[in-house]
Amino acid sequence: MLDLIPPTTRLRNAWLDAHAEWGSGLHEDGFGLAPTDEVASPSGFAAWIARLTDESERATCRWIVEDDRVLGGIALRHEFNDHVQWAGHIGFGVRPSARRRGLASWALGRMLDQARVLGMNRVLVVCATNNVGSARTIERVGGVFDEVRDTEHGPVRRYWITIVEPKA
Ligand SMILES: CC(C)(COP(=O)(O)OP(=O)(O)OC[C@H]1O[C@@H](n2cnc3c(N)ncnc32)[C@H](O)[C@@H]1OP(=O)(O)O)[C@@H](O)C(=O)NCCC(=O)NCCS
Repeated sequence: MLDLIPPTTRLRNAWLDAHAEWGSGLHEDGFGLAPTDEVASPSGFAAWIARLTDESERATCRWIVEDDRVLGGIALRHEFNDHVQWAGHIGFGVRPSARRRGLASWALGRMLDQARVLGMNRVLVVCATNNVGSARTIERVGGVFDEVRDTEHGPVRRYWITIVEPKA
C-alpha cells in the first residue's frame, strides 16, 4: 500500500536501496539530506533521522513508501525565509524506477493537505527552468506560474499554489 511516512531508521536498508538507485550526481530532492549528513553507517543514518525529527517544527519530511520500499521523499518547509525564497516551500523527488506513476503528484497533493493543517494559505514551489517533469507535476496540482527568476543555482520557474478548503 502506498503511504507517506516520517523518516525512520526501521527502513534504513530500503532507503539505502533507493539512495543507490539515484547514484551520485543525480537529483535527490525531498529528503532533507545535507552535505554534512553521513548516512552510510548505522549511527550516521540514525543521527540524520534524529536531526530531521528534531527539526520537524520547521519542516515536515515524509517518505513515499510502498510495501516497505522507499520510492521517494518530500519536504514541506513551514517558514518563508531566504532559503524558501529560492528553493520554495516544498521539495520532492521520486526514485528513477518509480517515476511516471503519478507518485510525485500524489505526494504533493498530500503535502498541500498538511500545509492546510498548518494554517498556510499558499505555498511557493520552484523548479529549474529545464525540469519539465517537475514543472508538469507542480502544474498538475494547481501551481500557477509566477515568473522565471535567476538564482545562484541557475534560472528557476516559480509557482504559487493556493491552499483551498476541501469541498464539503
Ligand atoms: C520531477 C519528478 C519528481 C516527477 O515525479 P513523477 O512521480 O514521475 O511525477 P508524476 O508521475 O506525478 O507526473 C506528473 C506529471 O508530470 C509529467 N512528467 C513527469 N516526468 C516527466 C518528464 N520527465 N517529462 C515530461 N513530463 C513528465 C507526467 O506525465 C505528469 O503529467 P500529466 O499530468 O500531464 O500526465 C521526478 O522526475 C524526479 O524525482 N526528478 C528528479 C528530482 C526533481 O527534479 N525533483 C523536483 C525538484 S523541483
